[in-house]
Amino acid sequence: MRLRKAAFRTELKKLSIDMVKKITAAITGIQGYVPDTVVTNDDLAKVVDTSNEWILTRTGIAERRLMKEGATSDIATAAVNQLLAKKNIDPLDIELVILATVTPDYPFPSTANVVCDKVGMKNAWGYDIIAACSGFIYALETGAKFIESGQYKKVLVIGVDKMSSILNYEDRTTCVIFGDGGGVALLEPNEEGLGIQDAILKSDGAGRQYLLQPAGGSVNPATIETVTNRMHFVKQEGKTVFKFAVTNMAEVSAEIMERNNLTSEDVDWLVPHQANLRIIDATAERMGLPKEKVMVNIQRYGNTTAGTLPLCLWDWEKQLKKGDNLILSAFGGGFTWGAIYLKWAYNS
Ligand code: UT7
Repeated sequence: MRLRKAAFRTELKKLSIDMVKKITAAITGIQGYVPDTVVTNDDLAKVVDTSNEWILTRTGIAERRLMKEGATSDIATAAVNQLLAKKNIDPLDIELVILATVTPDYPFPSTANVVCDKVGMKNAWGYDIIAACSGFIYALETGAKFIESGQYKKVLVIGVDKMSSILNYEDRTTCVIFGDGGGVALLEPNEEGLGIQDAILKSDGAGRQYLLQPAGGSVNPATIETVTNRMHFVKQEGKTVFKFAVTNMAEVSAEIMERNNLTSEDVDWLVPHQANLRIIDATAERMGLPKEKVMVNIQRYGNTTAGTLPLCLWDWEKQLKKGDNLILSAFGGGFTWGAIYLKWAYNS
């Protein structure tokens, strides 16, 4: 009798492990938001010594959006409100909000906190993630773990930046590259094996000097000097960052394909961070993907830092089919980089 009970318990344990294993975290809704104001390359050529030709050929950017009034939380709030309306979800049903940004409303409290309040997500808790241009993939992997644990059923993952709030419009090497915008993904449990399959995330703090906002933190707290010396703006050693980005984004994207036995035929879409068209092309080439499988909207939005990947998914949502294999890939300040392999979970 005792033996039978023990065997029964073992079987039950195996069964429950199997059941836990079956929960994957799937994106079940996506929504982007970009402010209305369009800033063209010609507009910027009136402010700094640059040209449409230089920006277009070096980066692929033709225009970007500018949030004239309002904060990062307002971009996120607009996206979340539209997503919840589209999906007919009560804000009170959201349990957790993970928001990636380098342009928070305040150093603290977190922007996730502010967005929960503005949207009325009274039952949610949330926090911010700082991983620059890799912010969305860091946040997505983190959110997925809460779903996979079985404890959470509705998690919002937001990638958003109001880059204009930290751009020096006297520095032509940075102000032409970035734009404002972002988006949100709804994560829910899936039992068909769809959603996030694998993630490879990396970081190397030795790269921090090449792309950063030097002041405003504990190293250089705000003083009259830090403001006068324009240390609260983005500083980038473009060429160095380019070299690291082009190598690492391509490498990690190929690595996640190999690890999951995916050939270029198996991959339906590359969803790359939109920093530079030349970096995107190099990544696609390394993965053996033709241009038709690569999401590119850099020409319209520029680099929205944590916002680029959800904005791509939003722009392509109607073309995505249930079961499609997507590779999300990014590289950014920190350095941070990585790739996520996911199976799209719905037809729209
Ligand atoms: O998203 C997070 C990660 N960030 C990235 O992945 C960005 C990576 N870096 C890049 O995409 C490129 O390095 C940039 C687009 C930032 C710059 O392109 P580049 O081909 O690497 O140009 P460069 O920095 O080597 O500069 C070449 C020349 C320089 O002039 P000189 O020294 O050759 O006379 C720059 O001063 O282009 C000049 N320049 C510009 N000229 C016109 C730099 N910015 C501009 C500009 N307009 N906006």
